[in-house]
Amino acid sequence: MVNIILLGPPGAGKGTQAKRLEESRGMVQLSTGDMLKEAIAKGTELGKRVEGIMARGELVTDEIVIGLIEAKMGEGAKGGFIFDGFPRTLKQADALGDLMVRKGVKLDAVIEMQVDDAALVARVSGRFTCGNCGAVYHDVTRPTKASGICDVCGSTDLRRRADDNEVTLKTRLMEYYKKTSPLIGYYYAKGQLSAVDGLAEVKAVADAIAKVLDKP
Ligand code: AP5
Repeated sequence: MVNIILLGPPGAGKGTQAKRLEESRGMVQLSTGDMLKEAIAKGTELGKRVEGIMARGELVTDEIVIGLIEAKMGEGAKGGFIFDGFPRTLKQADALGDLMVRKGVKLDAVIEMQVDDAALVARVSGRFTCGNCGAVYHDVTRPTKASGICDVCGSTDLRRRADDNEVTLKTRLMEYYKKTSPLIGYYYAKGQLSAVDGLAEVKAVADAIAKVLDKP
């Protein structure tokens, strides 16, 4: 069992790599972004509270996402957890540390996916996902094999995100640099940080992550 954090700005490829790790290693992706988007889609009270915040590209409160992660961790994961988009603040990182101690699981690695801002605009503006199974695509770098049909589950429910536009992306990036990037130093100081080149092609990024996970 291996537990890891994927750390990186919006569009770095965290979700793409998390899905591959689920398939290849039986790990479980815990994406706070996906959990929040699901709450919005279902029209829950939580969804109504966070919809505007997310549309602006700001972070929702620490308490909300810590509660979501705690509930999901309770369900367990044989192959280990992939924390995708969590933690995003120092408070969240401390809370995750406490949670892991309480649940008797350890954090094996924090993988920083390094990319530059120019690439992120292109990635985010070309992204679409399957509304049924969550598979992630891109107009240029990863189109579906048959137009309008998900390669994985055959659904035609392909969606673009409301926050995937240049204006909101700017706010999301600012939030990342102000509130999330300090986690790089936090985990470096704990000796848990590894970096991979997130600009490489998807398979090369996956290989670099596998190298970190399989390090003796
Ligand atoms: P969230 O859903 O977590 O979004 P994000 O962190 O902004 O990350 P993204 O999903 O945009 O990108 P990604 O790194 O997963 O990239 P992907 O693999 O899709 O959060 C959304 C919002 O929820 C936040 O703004 C905030 O409001 C709220 N929130 C969530 N968690 C929170 C928390 N913990 N605290 C507070 N608020 C929180 O790839 C992007 C595109 O690039 C795809 O099209 C893909 O096909 C393509 N691609 C991927 N890898 C490559 C590659 N190597 N080469 C070429 N193309 C690639």
